[in-house]
Amino acid sequence: MMISRDYLAKSIQDALRETPVAALLGARQVGKTTLARQLAATWPEPVHVFDMEDATDSLALRNPKQALAGLTGLVIIDEVQRAPHLFTALRPLVDRMPLPARFCLLGSAAPEIIRGVSESLAGRVSFVPVTGLTLDEVGAGRRDDLWLRGGFPRSFLASSSSASLAWRRDFIRTHVERDVPALGIRVQAGVLHRFWSMLAHYHGQVWNGEELGRSLGVTGKTVRHYLEILEGTYLVRVLPPWFENAGKRIVKSPKVYLRDSGLLHAFWGVESMRGLLGHPKYGASWEGFAMEQILARMPAAQPYFWATRQGAELDLFLERDGRRTGVEFKCADAPDMTKSMRIAMADLGLDRLLVVYPGGRIYALQENVTVMPLMEAVQRLEAAE
Ligand SMILES: Nc1ncnc2c1ncn2[C@@H]1O[C@H](COP(=O)(O)OP(=O)(O)OP(=O)(O)O)[C@@H](O)[C@H]1O
Ligand SMILES: [Mg+2]
Repeated sequence: MMISRDYLAKSIQDALRETPVAALLGARQVGKTTLARQLAATWPEPVHVFDMEDATDSLALRNPKQALAGLTGLVIIDEVQRAPHLFTALRPLVDRMPLPARFCLLGSAAPEIIRGVSESLAGRVSFVPVTGLTLDEVGAGRRDDLWLRGGFPRSFLASSSSASLAWRRDFIRTHVERDVPALGIRVQAGVLHRFWSMLAHYHGQVWNGEELGRSLGVTGKTVRHYLEILEGTYLVRVLPPWFENAGKRIVKSPKVYLRDSGLLHAFWGVESMRGLLGHPKYGASWEGFAMEQILARMPAAQPYFWATRQGAELDLFLERDGRRTGVEFKCADAPDMTKSMRIAMADLGLDRLLVVYPGGRIYALQENVTVMPLMEAVQRLEAAE
């Protein structure tokens, strides 16, 4: 069964219209190759596909200039994280006028963690973040399945809960044992696995590298590196704190989240909705899940959280054109106004506060403070983008 992903398909089309290169970046197995295949099937010009994990293709692109200069239409290069030298080689090819070919690059590691990529394509590339499946793609009626199993298509579509969980456990193992080493990064798979597992237990909390390092028996610098690896492979979100010159004492370390709720639950050993609702940290799970759903539809947003040392907190802070939006994630049947919300409204000068909960009603708590379901919040914030 194929789930159609219109938002992403359109984002890719737009990216290729705006710049000669579109880079589709996202975690392994989110569906990048599938999207590129669908793009190729409808592209009006010739399409050429290279897969850098394929020995023949990778050999063919050993001399990229020679191999690519004569091609017209659309050139798709998959698994580009395996061949970072391509980024530099593409530059003269995409500066040709008129442009004979556009390039669609697919990769599962951020440019920051692949050596050599740096600035070579600055101004010539649009990045399209490819996320796991989203609520609007699977339908709001399947929200709990998406929350429980996460957005990797094969996990979401697995024939049973246990098959889904097994797929995710396998994904985690493959990532630490094969995918990360394939990026040329040297790590001890066992330690990275334990680090990731610990991070799952810190999900939604303020990062404390020293403490994590102590528990793992490695230095703070090593845990930082491990965090960067998981962030750079789109599996962990590091949410920075918002601070401006307020008199209050503000938390200045980032918060960390596992981006896919299904992987989070695999680390927690949670297999059913009942298990999730009975888990002591299910509120944190909701927070991370709902936040990723919102941010998936706001690819240009710069998200922050905000917290004071006195205990006032805001889960998500977004600013756009001087307009300030706060989002609070609440796992309650009927969320009410809290002291923390009042402080956040006043201290941050929020124009509006959205309280996102698992329930189905929309109601106001006071002027500019509205409780609403996740889908509603996604749509309102996307419209404001
Ligand atoms: N829209 C979709 N609906 C249903 N299944 C999908 C969808 N997109 C991808 N899949 C399935 O998910 C799996 C992974 O998809 P795909 O190979 O496109 O991901 P990828 O991001 O290219 O992964 P990798 O980084 O490992 O190459 C495949 O089994 C694919 O059939
Ligand atoms: Mg692929």
